[in-house]
Amino acid sequence: MTITRRDFNKAGLGALSLAAIGGDALAGPKDMIRKAIPSSGEMVPIIGLGTNRYGVGDDVEKRTVLRAALARFHQLGGTLIDTAPMYRSSESVLGDLIADLGIRNDLFVATKTDKKGGAAATSAQMEESQEKLKIKTFDLMQVHNLINWQEALPVLREWKQEGLVRYIGITTSRANQYQEFEKVLRQEELDFIQINYSLEQREAADRILPLAADRGAAVIINRAFGGGRIFDKVGDQPLPEWAQEFGCESWAQFLLKYAIGHPAATLSIPGMTKLHHVEDNFGAAHGRLPDPAERERQEAFYDAL
Ligand SMILES: NC(=O)c1ccc[n+]([C@@H]2O[C@H](COP(=O)([O-])OP(=O)(O)OC[C@H]3O[C@@H](n4cnc5c(N)ncnc54)[C@H](OP(=O)(O)O)[C@@H]3O)[C@@H](O)[C@H]2O)c1
Repeated sequence: MTITRRDFNKAGLGALSLAAIGGDALAGPKDMIRKAIPSSGEMVPIIGLGTNRYGVGDDVEKRTVLRAALARFHQLGGTLIDTAPMYRSSESVLGDLIADLGIRNDLFVATKTDKKGGAAATSAQMEESQEKLKIKTFDLMQVHNLINWQEALPVLREWKQEGLVRYIGITTSRANQYQEFEKVLRQEELDFIQINYSLEQREAADRILPLAADRGAAVIINRAFGGGRIFDKVGDQPLPEWAQEFGCESWAQFLLKYAIGHPAATLSIPGMTKLHHVEDNFGAAHGRLPDPAERERQEAFYDAL
């Protein structure tokens, strides 16, 4: 079934999630929580993969570690992978690993543009990404950190019309870009936005997340762990017992469930290069997400640490 943007908003499906009761981290793809992309109704698992640390070049040992993480991600039912030309050799490494594992058709591949210099430069960069990732059609093409968005968005739309891009969007991870980000989100038709949001940095919830819901844009949450720094803050302190009520067995799950529990959020893309992190983080895609009162409790608990 295809749900239009208007149907989606009318039905209040922004908060939709399909959760299985009582699943655990390794319960398998069938029981995973998924949310809908507002502009199409397509369902995506709420845990994706961030790859800004996948630019390891030809280093065979490092590629072996990444291959294991990616294979596990796929095995556990993960689909959306986020990369970018800015992440050094990440696109090429992923292109090789995806081809080697033979999993392209199961994935939702998102990458970005960041070229200045006009429409031709943007198109040329996207052609390079096609080659590196070894794909013809991008599932999602995003303007990275709003770089050159005025010239880039029309190119992304052209590619979408030609069937070479399925969805388009914009990204940021910096609060000092929020004002401009909000302006672009207000005036442009976007399928997706990508933004930083975590227990540590909640500003996106003030204006941008509610606006994304109003505008019918899917939301990818980046940096739900603050780039990993939040783990330094929580250290080895125990989780509160009540976190088990919504299925948290680790701090990573606590942090991810908080971020994706925002009604406007569609999924999060934790950066993960290690297999055991993939397994831990998929625990957040099982059980259920915290309700608004539980999310407030999470905030109060975190603030008191
Ligand atoms: N403007 C933009 O467009 C923008 C900006 C920033 C990020 N992003 C995207 O968002 C993704 C996520 O951001 P990020 O990687 O900077 O930050 P993050 O997801 O907040 O943190 C990643 C760090 O957390 C660690 N980690 C992952 N799972 C863990 C677990 N279960 N337990 C303990 N540590 C764990 C990772 O370690 P390992 O790597 O060792 O597994 C890595 O060091 C990026 O990869 C990128 O795709 C986009």
